[in-house]
Amino acid sequence: MSSRIVVVTGASSGIGRAAALAFAARGDHLVLAARDRAGLEAVAARTGADPLIVVTDVTRAEAVEALAAAALRRHGRIDVWVDTAAVMAYGKFEDLPAEVFDRVVTTDLLGSAHVARSALKVFRRQGRGTLIMGSSLLAHVTAPYMSAYVTAKWGLRGLLRTLRQETRDLPEVHICQVTPGSVDTSIYTSAANYAGFVGRPPPPVDSPERVAGAVLALADHPRTEVTVGAANKVIQLGFTALPPVYDALVTPLMRAFGLSRQATTPHNGNIFASRPRTDGGPVRWNRTQVATAALTTATAAALLGRAALRGLATARRRG
Ligand SMILES: NC(=O)c1ccc[n+]([C@@H]2O[C@H](COP(=O)([O-])OP(=O)(O)OC[C@H]3O[C@@H](n4cnc5c(N)ncnc54)[C@H](OP(=O)(O)O)[C@@H]3O)[C@@H](O)[C@H]2O)c1
Repeated sequence: MSSRIVVVTGASSGIGRAAALAFAARGDHLVLAARDRAGLEAVAARTGADPLIVVTDVTRAEAVEALAAAALRRHGRIDVWVDTAAVMAYGKFEDLPAEVFDRVVTTDLLGSAHVARSALKVFRRQGRGTLIMGSSLLAHVTAPYMSAYVTAKWGLRGLLRTLRQETRDLPEVHICQVTPGSVDTSIYTSAANYAGFVGRPPPPVDSPERVAGAVLALADHPRTEVTVGAANKVIQLGFTALPPVYDALVTPLMRAFGLSRQATTPHNGNIFASRPRTDGGPVRWNRTQVATAALTTATAAALLGRAALRGLATARRRG
């Protein structure tokens, strides 16, 4: 396969960085974007090539347009655009300052819309191109303390479905989404936090390299969606098939597994400006802890499910 021109927004960390390195290893030409130049330069140095670096804030449409223009100036075309630029905020909706909620939605939904607009403008002209968006399990289910992120990711899923409908006249243009569950990246510790405790990826946790593999597979063989995460389908099933059970369990599970015991005072993390990151969350899960989490969740779901079914049967008998 010949070399492709690949733009990565959110290339300085986590999944975007792992994807950039995987594309580089394959011999593709890269255009790397995020807000922090030093982070991008560190990734560029690891590629062993000479990628174009364009400092870009995806919340600014004109900056994303300038990024596309810079990529076209250097390479004349864009084959693949991977967008993993995102931020997160922990805290009950009522505790999150409005500007924090708005900024997460602006980055994760409107920022992605800016990327999609610029990418599609190029792809329509070229008659071809693949857009790969960082979606999430939280585009399919909901979780407390993450209202802004959930709102953005559900919105993004709606946007991507609409874009697929609107580009049916372009068979060589592909709108894809990669849907991870929990991934060991610094997004959890970089997040704004109004929950009182530092966030962490709930088990089971995948590596960013595993998700990058899925991104590469989408670039090679575009599909609507690829899911990464052993528990994703079960969680989605619980969310859609047993809403009362899901809603009863999700808050205690989120407190037990999605938040660490490490206390923190309220802060805005990296959502308004890039800042130095620490890779990984405050806690790494071992196999026993993952097995215990799965068993506890399954037992609680079974008990609640049985109680719900009994309640239903009693109501039917009375009715
Ligand atoms: N980690 C997970 O468990 C997980 C699970 C499901 C889905 N996802 C999704 O996967 C994608 C990547 O997440 P990740 O975990 O790899 O996060 P990450 O390690 O925090 O990386 C996020 C990247 O986005 C960039 N970024 C943030 N705000 C930006 C802005 N306004 N403009 C441009 N770049 C910006 C960051 O660099 P700067 O700060 O320098 O700008 C960084 O390069 C996201 O879409 C996320 O929602 C992650």
